[in-house]
Amino acid sequence: MRPDPSELLELAGRVAREAGEMLRAGIGHLRIDVTTKTSGTDMVSEMDRASEALIVEGILAARPDDAILGEETGSRDGTSGVRWVIDPLDGTTNYLYRHPIWAVSVGVEVDGRAEVGVVVAAGLGEVFTATRGGGAWLDGAPISVSGATDLAGALVGTGFGYAASRRGRQAVVLPHLLPAVRDIRRNGVASLDLCWVACGRLDGYFEAGGQPWDVAAGLLIATEAGASAAGLDGGPVVPESVMVAAPGVAPALFALLVGAGADEPLKPPH
Ligand code: IPD
Repeated sequence: MRPDPSELLELAGRVAREAGEMLRAGIGHLRIDVTTKTSGTDMVSEMDRASEALIVEGILAARPDDAILGEETGSRDGTSGVRWVIDPLDGTTNYLYRHPIWAVSVGVEVDGRAEVGVVVAAGLGEVFTATRGGGAWLDGAPISVSGATDLAGALVGTGFGYAASRRGRQAVVLPHLLPAVRDIRRNGVASLDLCWVACGRLDGYFEAGGQPWDVAAGLLIATEAGASAAGLDGGPVVPESVMVAAPGVAPALFALLVGAGADEPLKPPH
């Protein structure tokens, strides 16, 4: 039987809020047991792991047959057709430096398609949600993308990977972008960048090299709020190749990013 999206939303919201509360309460324990992952700049703390354990336990207690893909513990197969895609602490670097911008991101797919997204920004006391076809919400109020129509007046977020070689190639886009837009932001939380496009705090966002857990919830929230989305080569959007924007600036922004080679960091260095 096909699961009820409102039940999935309720469970996603509950586990993400619980994890967000635990993380907020744990800020005093910062930098305890911090290790690095993919590179020396990619930190993971005991808080990332504790948050994921709490979320996974909550999901499996309610829905033992579901599959799970989590940033810290990897994947677990299921039999129900439902998969939970979890970033237990998006913006780990911000969190460990006591910046208030970090989030718990929980996306739910049914038969491979995003159905529910919840991003809890517990440091800011904000919760973004969306269900497929049901719109996007901030703290229970509907949200929509900005009405920006002029690229020169657009505020555009981006993010960088952890590998030094990829970062060098990501930087190559900036001389093309900076003179053409109002300004850029590097918030350090991909899931929230997408939510901020959804509520008009950014007019667009792009990043090469993201992971499914960075964008599973946020992409649904952004598109349900009316954002246009594509891959950095102009093809379909996929986690590792994301550009989203308010429809009024999307054609100009997307053309600029494709022309500037924003997907280059995804190709092997020459
Ligand atoms: C990172 C953040 C960052 C983005 C990186 C992500 P993490 O997630 O979302 O903004 O630029 O690509 O890996 O490591 O803090 O969960």
